[in-house]
Amino acid sequence: MNTEVLKADTESINKAAKLLQSSEVVGIPTETVYGLAANAFSDKAVKKIFEAKGRPQDNPLIVHIADLSELEDITAEVKDDCIKLAQAFWPGPLTIVMPKSEKIGMAVSGGLDTVAIRMPQHPIARKIISSAGIPLAAPSANLSGSPSPTTAQHVLNDMNGRIPLIIDGGFCSVGVESTVITICDDKPVLLRPGYITKQQLENALDKEVCLSSAILDKLKDGEKANSPGMKYKHYAPKADITIIGGSFEKFKKYAERDKNSVALCFDEDRERLCIKCVCYGAEKDHAQQAQRLFSALRELDEIGAQTVYARKPQKDGVALAVYNRLLRAAAFKVMDL
Ligand code: TXA
Ligand code: MG
Repeated sequence: MNTEVLKADTESINKAAKLLQSSEVVGIPTETVYGLAANAFSDKAVKKIFEAKGRPQDNPLIVHIADLSELEDITAEVKDDCIKLAQAFWPGPLTIVMPKSEKIGMAVSGGLDTVAIRMPQHPIARKIISSAGIPLAAPSANLSGSPSPTTAQHVLNDMNGRIPLIIDGGFCSVGVESTVITICDDKPVLLRPGYITKQQLENALDKEVCLSSAILDKLKDGEKANSPGMKYKHYAPKADITIIGGSFEKFKKYAERDKNSVALCFDEDRERLCIKCVCYGAEKDHAQQAQRLFSALRELDEIGAQTVYARKPQKDGVALAVYNRLLRAAAFKVMDL
């Protein structure tokens, strides 16, 4: 299959809409990361997403909508908490897990009786959803296991020959995938951290939000993931990454023992280190770290990095999303010096 990459304009958006209506898969920009979109109501279309990504069948997909009126067809119950969150954060980088309707097939829900829903903010994503006139199931547009794509070129690198069309909407402003929260029980649980923080969710809901243990800890053998995506190896470049906590001086001393190692570090570190550096944002600018982390992980592969030492991100606010992704890229290897 030939994969076309087209700049987003009226003509290419119409082309994407037509393909989506005929059960094809299209790479689309969103404000978080690029998505691999298909008709959420068609089993045939959804199956093609899993094939293109090489994704395990039990890992459910997010359904993307452009208008609140679409909720009715997708969820069995629009809870008060959903309305509060939608008012505060939609359109935007928040995914809400709710009870699913019968129209959502088992392929989308990964066999669960719930469905994850998001209304993206990116104007091109919204135009594609409304032109197609159907909700779109879309995981991140990377091959299963590799870092999520934040440019159309990243999508092409992973999906060339696997899908007919990628719409190029430029780079993704948020850069990490949406925050995922489940409101199926009275006690909401944060399943995946993102740009919308735990504190912001608590303010909007006016109640406590628990952190899923899978955010910072590896699942134990036999433990069931409340968000199946958390159990898979993720975001992993070919290099062996170790996250190093502690002062910059200790990091420098440790990393520079091996002159061939690469530092995955903050912008300010570059001129103070004598090994190769791939930077992922200013130390104090957590939103910028989120925006740049995935392309930094892809850059490690491009320069052939083998042993990588990463500066440790903070654990609060948006930085929690950065730490959560980096932990998976490092297969949970952390050393505090
Ligand atoms: O920002 C994003 O969310 C991007 C863009 C394209 O919208 N999409 C994305 O999709 O990151 P994906 O498939 O890579 O991640 C979806 C996550 C997975 O961790 C999955 O397990 C979880 O959401 N998820 C989906 N449906 C769920 C459900 N019913 N219950 C619990 N977790 C669910
Ligand atoms: Mg993904």
